[in-house]
Amino acid sequence: MKKTSARIAMIGYQFMGRAHANAWRQAGHFCNPALKPELKVVCGRDAQAAGDAAQTLGFAESDTSWERVVQRDDIDIVDICTPGDSHAPIAIAAAEAGKAVLCEKPLANTVAEAQAMERAAEAAGIVHMLCHNYRRVPAVALAKRLIEEDRLGRIFHFRGTYLQDWILDPEFPLVWRLQKARAGSGALGDIGSHSLDLARHLVGEILEVSGHLATFVEQRPLEDGSGTGPVDVDDAAISLLRFENGAIGTMEASRFAAGRKNANCFEINGEKGSLSFDLERLNELEFYEENGSESGFRTILATDESHPFVEGWWPPGHILGYEHSFTNTVVDFLAAVAAGQPASPNFSDGVQNLQVLEAVERSANSRHWERVVVS
Ligand SMILES: NC(=O)c1ccc[n+]([C@@H]2O[C@H](COP(=O)([O-])OP(=O)(O)OC[C@H]3O[C@@H](n4cnc5c(N)ncnc54)[C@H](O)[C@@H]3O)[C@@H](O)[C@H]2O)c1
Repeated sequence: MKKTSARIAMIGYQFMGRAHANAWRQAGHFCNPALKPELKVVCGRDAQAAGDAAQTLGFAESDTSWERVVQRDDIDIVDICTPGDSHAPIAIAAAEAGKAVLCEKPLANTVAEAQAMERAAEAAGIVHMLCHNYRRVPAVALAKRLIEEDRLGRIFHFRGTYLQDWILDPEFPLVWRLQKARAGSGALGDIGSHSLDLARHLVGEILEVSGHLATFVEQRPLEDGSGTGPVDVDDAAISLLRFENGAIGTMEASRFAAGRKNANCFEINGEKGSLSFDLERLNELEFYEENGSESGFRTILATDESHPFVEGWWPPGHILGYEHSFTNTVVDFLAAVAAGQPASPNFSDGVQNLQVLEAVERSANSRHWERVVVS
């Protein structure tokens, strides 16, 4: 009998857990997805907190063991919303148990872990997806469409910045995002990975990088108040990029950009025009056409039905938000799972993204240009 629903197990329930739970619920109630999500079980390490999360986020049950959850016969999709050090073991076990897997970015903490995940997913023949949700912001998808329609012509420049300021205070504690063993890297993997995913998605593959990493506050208070500990990840990352198609670019990711809260921005310049986007004004896309009747950039309010990912939400001008990018992502994932077709971006994109991150780190250490190693 044809399946009409998909039973979800979500691992992790804080920031991304809340964003994903909201997306699964919205998808089911509002978007008529190919499979209706059933929020079966949410998993965390603390029984009380996981139980509370199940109540708040709308899951039928909670559990404290992801190992148990991924083996359950009544689960179809495992959604990984935990820090990077647990992505590989959870995704590999879930794939081996035949579950479709949606995983948060960056795919893993190292290229080797990401490749093991890709191998396990391919060997099991499961549908896998990586949550670079910004690809599904309507204005970003419109930028992609305009590039595919050759409205920019040959692309010369990509300028990606992802700027935040939440750890400016040196007394901010040493949370998992500031620990290499848990997060893999700092601003580079956390937010630079999004910028580099957009670079790959919109412009093309990156061949070579010249990177620099900086850690401005090297000791921070431990979360349990027992002293201080070393910050062993970057607070800011910056890199020159050389693309396969001849374009050149820059990527800058920082958590020390005072006043910038979640400024995921890019500008792309081509022979026929330019595009510019800022997540803090996410309904808008700036477009300049060299042969336009007027000179200057114009602002497109990317909320028309004809714009990607808008149909099914609200009438033109009725503004979408951050959360819609996640709902759009899970709706497409459910369609891929229903059809047994590859999702995009997927674990292979995650491997390629990590190969660029790894090259930036290598270059920061060698102080030379480094090639992105593709294997
Ligand atoms: N797509 C995006 O824009 C975006 C934004 C923020 C974070 N992320 C990614 O999402 C992931 C999670 O980040 P977050 O901000 O939600 O972190 P968070 O600290 O808010 O939440 C992490 C969750 O994982 C749980 N957890 C940790 N280890 C676990 C384990 N071994 N078993 C079960 N649960 C465990 C914690 O209890 C918590 O619920 C990371 O990979 C991060 O890079 C993506």
